[in-house]
Amino acid sequence: MDKLETLQNLPREILNQDALLKNANMLLDTMLDFRELMLCYSCAIKEIRTKLEILDKEFEVQTSRNPIAGIQTRLKSQTSVMEKMARKGLEFTRENIENNLNDIAGLRVICSYVDDIYKIADALTAQDDIVLIEKKDYIQNPKENGYRSLHLIVTVPVFFAEHTKIVRAEVQIRTIAMDFWASLEHEIKYKKSIENPEQISQKLKKCSEMIAYTDAMMQSIRMQADSSQGEESEEDKIFQKLKRVDKSLE
Ligand code: GTP
Ligand code: MG
Repeated sequence: MDKLETLQNLPREILNQDALLKNANMLLDTMLDFRELMLCYSCAIKEIRTKLEILDKEFEVQTSRNPIAGIQTRLKSQTSVMEKMARKGLEFTRENIENNLNDIAGLRVICSYVDDIYKIADALTAQDDIVLIEKKDYIQNPKENGYRSLHLIVTVPVFFAEHTKIVRAEVQIRTIAMDFWASLEHEIKYKKSIENPEQISQKLKKCSEMIAYTDAMMQSIRMQADSSQGEESEEDKIFQKLKRVDKSLE
């Protein structure tokens, strides 16, 4: 290559590099903007988790029993957000994401008893800063496949240094038994080749009915046990109160 040719090529290379940098800059800006948006959802999870933990603790201090057996949280991955936006046929913009996806922030609350599910849901949605957007009661109205759970879509304000952001989150509340069922059903749903899918669906549905029956029985046994506590001796009652006084508040 002679000198002239090199000189002629130079401006085009610079131009290409410029375009490359510009594109990289735009891409990084989009990614950073997305990261900032995901931070809002991650904070919303923290806020709701704390609210649930406070409700659980309050209940424990009052009754020596925890309504919540466990809380699982998940922030939807970037790939899942992109995939869901594409599935819904929506352009990947911040506004579209905020207005159309309810489950970027997800919390799953596992309770021991069915009545605890409604107690927790009512106490959470009654809070001044929580707004209930949607409620789906798959316990009263189970899905055709047998899926049972109470789903809430709520908003919570997240306070940053210079602004407040109202953020949506999905809260799924179910019993330990319903969660056990949903885990297996979910696992099976994603199995590519499975023998006798019809039979498996039927078995799952049967299990879901048995679980609903067991949940109802367990609750009735607990209520029976609770109501017979009134017949305890005065000494026993004082001893029970002493045990409550000693319990850790952390
Ligand atoms: P998207 O699923 O968010 O598009 O909205 P939807 O209107 O279908 O919401 P729905 O409340 O029915 O379900 C939301 C979530 O609940 C899902 O992402 C699952 O985590 C869970 N879920 C719903 N149905 C089932 C089910 O049949 N089996 C299992 N294992 N989980 C379910
Ligand atoms: Mg769905």
